Amino acid sequence: MKKIGVAILGLGVVGGGTYRILTEHKEFYKTTQALDINVECVLEPNEARWRELGVPEEIVATNIAEIACDPDVNIVVECIGGVGTAREYVLDVLYGGKTVVTSNKELVAKYYHELERAAKRHSAGLYFEASCVGGVPIIRTLLDGVQSNRITSMMGIINGTTNYILTKMTEEGTSYAAALSEAQRLGYAEADPDADVEGYDAAYKLSVLSSLAFHTKIPYTKVLREGITGVTAEDIARGNALGYRLKLLAIAKQSEEGIEVRVHPAFVKKEHPLASVSGSYNAVFLTGDAVGDLMLYGRGAGDLPTGSAIVSDILYAASRIEPRYSTFKNNATPDKDTKFITDFESAYYMRLSVNDKTGVLSKIAAIFGKNNISILELLQTPDSDGATLVLVTHETHEAAIKNAVAKLNTSEIAKVEAVLRVVS
Ligand code: HSE
Repeated sequence: MKKIGVAILGLGVVGGGTYRILTEHKEFYKTTQALDINVECVLEPNEARWRELGVPEEIVATNIAEIACDPDVNIVVECIGGVGTAREYVLDVLYGGKTVVTSNKELVAKYYHELERAAKRHSAGLYFEASCVGGVPIIRTLLDGVQSNRITSMMGIINGTTNYILTKMTEEGTSYAAALSEAQRLGYAEADPDADVEGYDAAYKLSVLSSLAFHTKIPYTKVLREGITGVTAEDIARGNALGYRLKLLAIAKQSEEGIEVRVHPAFVKKEHPLASVSGSYNAVFLTGDAVGDLMLYGRGAGDLPTGSAIVSDILYAASRIEPRYSTFKNNATPDKDTKFITDFESAYYMRLSVNDKTGVLSKIAAIFGKNNISILELLQTPDSDGATLVLVTHETHEAAIKNAVAKLNTSEIAKVEAVLRVVS
């Protein structure tokens, strides 16, 4: 039976989940995969972590060189996160000819070109299923399932932490701070949760996924990124009353005009399939020119779901004679002829404080009209200072909404309190 030695760098939530799966499924993989997989060493400076997992002391390495030179290690799993030590260690072991399996989306989004070059030079494999959408096999789907297609669009919920927070706020009225700390306790959030709530995590993932889907490098810097920190409980409740659910969406589209890539909170109708994707669950819709619509759904974060993706990569790598490199463009920058669309089309939700006087509504309507924005629904509720106006527009251009907001805010008849995109 083929023997495979694995080293794990970092035994936090994901590294710990990986260790558990590998040790608990050892006999199962012998029977089902004809592979005898052994965790040969771990690198984890926090003693409490490896002790809690029951890792034998004799397999705890003290430095990366021990692992890079260990002839019994074939595959190194990187679960350190970030792009400092993680990048350095991954390069060290690739230079040592070890195959790398990583869950690190920031590393893949920023340095894939560099890592793949090192991997190819040393005939090592490089796999990153766990970097995007936790246990959902989206990378394998793009590489090995729908590669026969031109992918025209991808839309989904690809961050578990923010989906957990928004679900808790919407369904249970939990405060933002309490929902975030619960997501941290459950092991969904990044070490620095700003990466989740400010949309960086989703932007890195969308950069990786859209580069794979569209066969050109989409740098994460090209992804329009807005997080959920500006979202208020009031807008979640008002949207809810209109039949919408708020989600942090990742959207990538490719057409003859160019490519648009964005991560931002957006309302979806309650009947929309993404509206019922709750808690740490994620989902991705793909549209391909041959397959049509396809949806993947599952846990996007957490120890065992993400560990599941890592171990699947280990099994995939272990059962191949030659490494399988991805079709991810091995560049740092996009192709010269790639055009990015920034003035995309969307519908919008808007909340305004208005003076409750004669003619105000017609002046607001005139501003929308001048910007070619058509209103789909509108609700006015009186309050102590005037009134609150909540409206949803038909699809329009982002630039038109920005113009209208600027005009409204200087009009002295209304103040725009919130603008959120709506996916129809
Ligand atoms: N912090 C990430 C999330 C973990 O919440 O989705 C999985 O990538």
